[in-house]
Amino acid sequence: MAVRVDVEFAAKDAYRAVKRGDLIIAVDALRCSSSIVNALANGVNAVIPTETLKEAYRLREQHPDFLLVGERKGCKLKSFDLGNSPLEFVREVVDGKTVIMTTTSGTRALVRCRRAEHVLVGAFLNAGAVAKKAVEIAQRNKVDVSFVLAGEKGLFSLEDFLCAGAIASKFPAGTFDFSDEALAAVLGFERVKGALSEYVRKSRHARHLTELGFERDIEFSCMLKHFEIVPVYRDGKITLMQ
Ligand code: MLT
Repeated sequence: MAVRVDVEFAAKDAYRAVKRGDLIIAVDALRCSSSIVNALANGVNAVIPTETLKEAYRLREQHPDFLLVGERKGCKLKSFDLGNSPLEFVREVVDGKTVIMTTTSGTRALVRCRRAEHVLVGAFLNAGAVAKKAVEIAQRNKVDVSFVLAGEKGLFSLEDFLCAGAIASKFPAGTFDFSDEALAAVLGFERVKGALSEYVRKSRHARHLTELGFERDIEFSCMLKHFEIVPVYRDGKITLMQ
């Protein structure tokens, strides 16, 4: 039977994908997923996402050696070690560390997926690798696939939608049954892939990040096929899939 591919547009809707028992690809292209991918690529042992600041501070109290990272309104908080810029996760700073991460929508989406059996973290940066792994797992376990987009405060996000399209465009034709939403994401991505960052820069969140001076994060996060790594979220932690 064909594997069905669905899309949930915002963190608050993650429960629908969990309830269906789907393999979930959680996407927050700007910037949470991209930061997680770059953090793991630069030697981070594990990322622990939290939905709330309270939970992040509590974990940090229990584990003073963990790095505390993330953002609210796009900016690093005073007591945090790092913000949510993927470019901050350089090897010299993060190698061998465990990271507690809390962001406005990205970590919220992830935490809301925690009861699903298979949760992968997708970004433009690892689109090919995550697609390949999702196909393998879905076919082996006979489960459908859902993209859970972080969105922005409950709203649709263009960059997450295009990122879902970038990943789904790698699924083998014929054996996957795309919902209209998933098909639209692929069509949207195919239309703009030649000038991806140019289109992503027009999105609401990218314009906000540009105002804050994070243009380089947008360029970086829009690089396709940059990493062959697949972050997997299991038992409260995101680690590299072996
Ligand atoms: C989020 O989780 O809402 C985003 O990653 C925000 C950001 O760009 O820092």
